[in-house]
Amino acid sequence: MEHASQESPPAGRRQFLKMAVAGIISAVLGLVPVAAGLAVFLDPLRRKSAANGAIRVTTLESLPDDGVPRKFPVLASRVDAWNKFSEVPIGAVYLRRTGNQVQALNVVCPHAGCFVDFLPERGVYLCPCHNSTFTAAGTIGDRASPAARGLDSLEVQVRGGNEVWVKFENFQPGRAEKIPAA
Ligand code: FES
Repeated sequence: MEHASQESPPAGRRQFLKMAVAGIISAVLGLVPVAAGLAVFLDPLRRKSAANGAIRVTTLESLPDDGVPRKFPVLASRVDAWNKFSEVPIGAVYLRRTGNQVQALNVVCPHAGCFVDFLPERGVYLCPCHNSTFTAAGTIGDRASPAARGLDSLEVQVRGGNEVWVKFENFQPGRAEKIPAA
């Protein structure tokens, strides 16, 4: 009686099969990061979670109506090729409320990128790095300030009558004009 052959394939064929399988595996592994990167680049929802979308920062009731700026962190979800991070700080803003009007200023000094502090006793922002000062409205406070422009204002929306949303952006330091950071 004749049996189906149980012999292993010849050595040359085995070697060829091994190389073919190894080639397929490395091709698939190489495609994974490319596909993940493309997904991040092409997916508008993911792009919206990056720094350019409007982000809910606080509520009107948390913001006293006294014209004094308060600092708030800006939190957002971040997605890279491998992980999603929820509610991580991507920056901070000073919010100043007058009635139902809210002004938002980026805390980053436009001179060289340090963080400014609001000094309530003087009613001005001061940058600790090279002593630029800015008025409460964000304009340059005195001529000796090395900053070439005032603090960067950001677009604010009050949604649903209470939620304060800010279109958070960073701008290039050291320039007189506001140019979005790359
Ligand atoms: S970084 Fe603010 S004054 Fe230089």
